Amino acid sequence: MKNKNTKILIVGAEALPFAATGGLGDVLGSLPAALAREASDTDIRVVMPLYAKVGAQYREQMTKVAEINVKLAWRNQYCGIYSLEKDGVIYYFLDNECYFNRDALYGFFDDGERYAFFSRAVMDMIPAIDFYPDVLHANDWQSALTVIYNKLYYKYPGMKTIYTIHNIEYQGKYDKYILGDVFAIDNSDLSIVEYDGCINLTKGAIVCCDRLTTVSAKYADEIKDAFFAHGLENIIMANAEKLSGIVNGIDYDYYNPMALENKFSASYRTFSGKAKNKAALQEMLGLPTDTDAPIVSMISRLASHKGFDLVKCVLEEALDNSDMQFVLLGTGEKEFEYYFCELAAKYPSRVRALFEFNKELSKKIYSGSDIFLMPSKSEPCGLSQMIASRYATVPIVRETGGLYDTIKPFNSETLEGNGVTFCTYNAHDMLDAINRTLALYKNKNVWKKLVKNAAEKDFSWNASARLYLLMYAGL
Ligand code: GLC
Repeated sequence: MKNKNTKILIVGAEALPFAATGGLGDVLGSLPAALAREASDTDIRVVMPLYAKVGAQYREQMTKVAEINVKLAWRNQYCGIYSLEKDGVIYYFLDNECYFNRDALYGFFDDGERYAFFSRAVMDMIPAIDFYPDVLHANDWQSALTVIYNKLYYKYPGMKTIYTIHNIEYQGKYDKYILGDVFAIDNSDLSIVEYDGCINLTKGAIVCCDRLTTVSAKYADEIKDAFFAHGLENIIMANAEKLSGIVNGIDYDYYNPMALENKFSASYRTFSGKAKNKAALQEMLGLPTDTDAPIVSMISRLASHKGFDLVKCVLEEALDNSDMQFVLLGTGEKEFEYYFCELAAKYPSRVRALFEFNKELSKKIYSGSDIFLMPSKSEPCGLSQMIASRYATVPIVRETGGLYDTIKPFNSETLEGNGVTFCTYNAHDMLDAINRTLALYKNKNVWKKLVKNAAEKDFSWNASARLYLLMYAGL
């Protein structure tokens, strides 16, 4: 690990396999290793909190690197720095039981203070571990303060900062009266973080960073618009010259159809392994093992911006006019859980709803389904459409953000395209896309081609890792 030319410190609130709740965890769990693979002269390190959720199997591999006191306004707190190496990347874990020994990652009354502590500790850790990054790459609002602190107070010589927005909806907004007391920011610097009468940490990081990125080119464009920007469009516009979009990849080792019990790959002449997965899924869920009936699935947080409003409007119509089976996996807003409960009761031999966040189960559903539905209202990148494709399941998506960038509509004449898409956020446009997909499914030869296009499309990190490395080098 010594004597590498470029040093990168990636900062974020979650990373797989250690602790994660969503897409950010997938990205920080797979991008760093991809960067390390692509550039052996670059020293890639990651830092995240040591949550209670980080399992014993990882804690056993950790060594304690240092212990520091972190000053945050009037507080003076212990911070243990632990590390382990995985796939050519050093991961640091910052320990403070009072802040991180809790039964969830987020959602506490003092999240602002917890991530202010974390960000401060990251900045104080740099001399303690004797690793001076050329680039500090922060992700989402929980690490936004690292970028702000460096610009205002730490000013590490030569260190450039990148701030990546994974979802602009979550900004880290707080009342102004905690500026000094919790965030340890001087009143004279209020204008840096103030927006719309509040402290807005995302806004502060956008203003302070050297480069601003988001997780697809289309989303980089979209967030200049009020429909997508959740109030920050003017700040994005004013900083547009720093902004670019780099689409995410997925972990090809973790999501690998060749690692399934019934394995298959895009290059197989037939998808017999895939068919076995479908039968196994139907059996597991107690659905009729009908090979002809298409299985349409959704794996998603149950939130309205994921398109569930549209689903509620027209899914029954789709079920009534076809022989499709429908499987849902996810947790979230109660309104949608109730809806799917009722739907499953009304169609006992066609619909299953599983209210869980379960990665292993998700692989069974991705690999056993024929069609994957993802009608998001907005989607910065989206990973599920890529995971579904990797498992030879044809995605239906709305043309927004990363869904637009990754899924091109199938054209029955040229036989090009790797999914089915619709443009307007409208329930009957979505229904039309479902019906078009079901019609393609009935034509076995055409369907085979579409499945092949979906499965063969390269969604590994290789290309995007190279783009990140170019950006790091450019700084
Ligand atoms: C967020 C976004 C999602 C993206 C992920 C990783 O969860 O909502 O679209 O894929 O971050 O960047």
